[in-house]
Amino acid sequence: MKKKIRVGALISGGGTNLQAIIDASRTGAIDADVVFVGSDNPAAKGLERARRHGISDWVVDYAAVLRACRQDPGKVRPPEDFQLEDVRAKQAIFPPSADRNSVDAYLTSRAVAEARLLRAMPPDSFDLLVLAGFMRNLTPYFIDRVNTDRTRPRIMNIHPALLPAFPGTDGYGDTFRYGCKVAGCTVHFVDYGEDSGPIIGQRAFAVHEGDTLDSIRRRGLEQEWQLYPECIQLFAEGRLKTVRMRHDRPGGGVSERTVVQVMPKK
Ligand code: GRF
Repeated sequence: MKKKIRVGALISGGGTNLQAIIDASRTGAIDADVVFVGSDNPAAKGLERARRHGISDWVVDYAAVLRACRQDPGKVRPPEDFQLEDVRAKQAIFPPSADRNSVDAYLTSRAVAEARLLRAMPPDSFDLLVLAGFMRNLTPYFIDRVNTDRTRPRIMNIHPALLPAFPGTDGYGDTFRYGCKVAGCTVHFVDYGEDSGPIIGQRAFAVHEGDTLDSIRRRGLEQEWQLYPECIQLFAEGRLKTVRMRHDRPGGGVSERTVVQVMPKK
C-alpha cells in the first residue's frame, strides 16, 4: 500500500474545496488522509463536512480573540516565543510605509490567535496544511513554526484568480469587474505576503459575453475542485521542488524569486 500524507485543513466557510479533497482522499485519487479541519469561524458550514466524515474538527474563534485585543490592548499577552521585531521585519502584508503601531497591533493580535491554532494542530501532527477558503492572513509567527525546513514549504492556499493578478478576498469579483476575458484559479505555497507565494498550479477558463459573476464563480469553483487535489497529489509524490531563480532584466538589474518546479513522475 502507498504511504499516505497527513493533510490538515483550515476553512472559514462552506468548504466545497475541503469536500473535494476529502472525496479525493476517500476514493484513493490522492495519497492523503485529512487528519483535522480547523476554522477561525464557529459558524463555518464546512465543519459539518468534517464531522460527517468522522474527521476531527475545532475552532479558534478569531473574531472573539481580536475583539478582546481591541477592547483591552494593555491586556494582550502575546505568546512567549513571539518576537515582534522578527515578525515585523519578515511580514510582507503591509508596505514599509504602513503605520508602525497599527502593524504591531495587527501582528500581535494575530499571533495570539495563531498560538491557539498551533496548540490545536501541533506541527508534527500533519505533513501538509491546506487553506481551503481560510479568510485570514497568516503571519511569519505561524508560518515559521509550520515551515521548520525553509526549503520545504508545506502550507498551500487556493486563490480564485490567476495570480499574480487580483490578490485579496474577491478574486472572481475583481476578475469579472475588470472585464478580463480569461478567469482562473491558482494553488500556491504560502509565504509572508498576501497571495504572493510560489505558484504550484493554475487553471484558466474563458469568460464569455453574457457571463455573470455567479456563472464565473460556479465555473471557477469546478476548476478549483480538480486543481487542489492534483496539487496535493504532486506534494504527496514529492514532486514539488522550490528553487531560487535569478533573471537578468532587459533594462539592467536582476530579478530574483522562489518558484516551484514540478519534477517528473518517478
Ligand atoms: C474559493 O473560491 C477559494 O478559492 C477561496 O475561497 C473560496 C472557498 O470556497 N479562497 P469553499 O469554502 O471551498 O467552498
